[in-house]
Amino acid sequence: MVDKPLVLMTHDLPADWIGNSLDEYQIILGDNTQRGIDNKLKRYLPEASGIICLLDDPISSEIINQAPLLKVVSNMAVGTDNINVKSCTSLGIPVGHTPGVLTDGTADLTIALLLSVSRRLAAANQDARDGKWLSWEPTGWLGRDLKDATVGIIGLGKIGSAVAERLKPFGCKLIFNNRSPLPDQETNLNARQVDLDELLTTSNFICLHVPLTQETIGLIGKEEFEKMKPTTIMINTARGPVVTTDALIEALQNNQILAAGLDVTDPEPLPPDHPLYQLPNCFITPHIGSATANTRRVMAGIAIRNLKAGIQGKPLPYCVNPEVYNIF
Ligand code: GLV
Repeated sequence: MVDKPLVLMTHDLPADWIGNSLDEYQIILGDNTQRGIDNKLKRYLPEASGIICLLDDPISSEIINQAPLLKVVSNMAVGTDNINVKSCTSLGIPVGHTPGVLTDGTADLTIALLLSVSRRLAAANQDARDGKWLSWEPTGWLGRDLKDATVGIIGLGKIGSAVAERLKPFGCKLIFNNRSPLPDQETNLNARQVDLDELLTTSNFICLHVPLTQETIGLIGKEEFEKMKPTTIMINTARGPVVTTDALIEALQNNQILAAGLDVTDPEPLPPDHPLYQLPNCFITPHIGSATANTRRVMAGIAIRNLKAGIQGKPLPYCVNPEVYNIF
């Protein structure tokens, strides 16, 4: 009898998402309460053909080097900043991800955060529950209009563009900053491409949609907050470390900006005693951009397809380092 290829899965997934798609493998499941390759999974690294992991599972070069038979790392996420992709590439190991399918979910959540923060929904809901809704207050719970506001999008990839599309009917002025020029998007989205300084100084709302890379770590720090308006609302549904947390706390505390809506933070998860929770002008959700039942199921399906292709030695349907196919 031929042994089944061994696959490490850092976290359990619902049986009805998986069906019988992993029957041909010997699956070793990690501890759901731990991140990354836990001690149990570590023992199996020398025999592992594949890894299915999540966006908060660090897959370092040290891990990769302990897995000489590894044929694929499949991330159930679009971002792969948790994985040392360079190291995988140098060893000819393809890395899979799940682009496209979470664009709409994440763009929807961005709009939800933008509206929640601009209309102060968290405070209004809490005050109503706390018996503070005593009359129709002319000056109660005043928020900010989206109509005619300038919304600046940093990073006009798939998700940034989907956010811009959703914002069109609100009647805002759209501007964006992007690494490469996107003249077609200026026309399609009726948006103007500007440099980062202009975006920071003129936007009423700023939405972050860049991937986390060496270039984008700390993209928004003290200097950038100083350039923003005191009425600016910043929304981050990209990655926490794109913003310097200490600088954000300072900007919110000193009313250097009006408020923030964060689906991602640094660190993640954000511990319950973190100072960001103490700030009434900070609205936080626990990294739920892709968290719709349909999106997560589809993401799991793609992660499994990528895994299978990698183990069979075929090109992954969604690969972040396709250059692996050319280097050997
Ligand atoms: C979500 O943040 C993802 O990268 O999938």
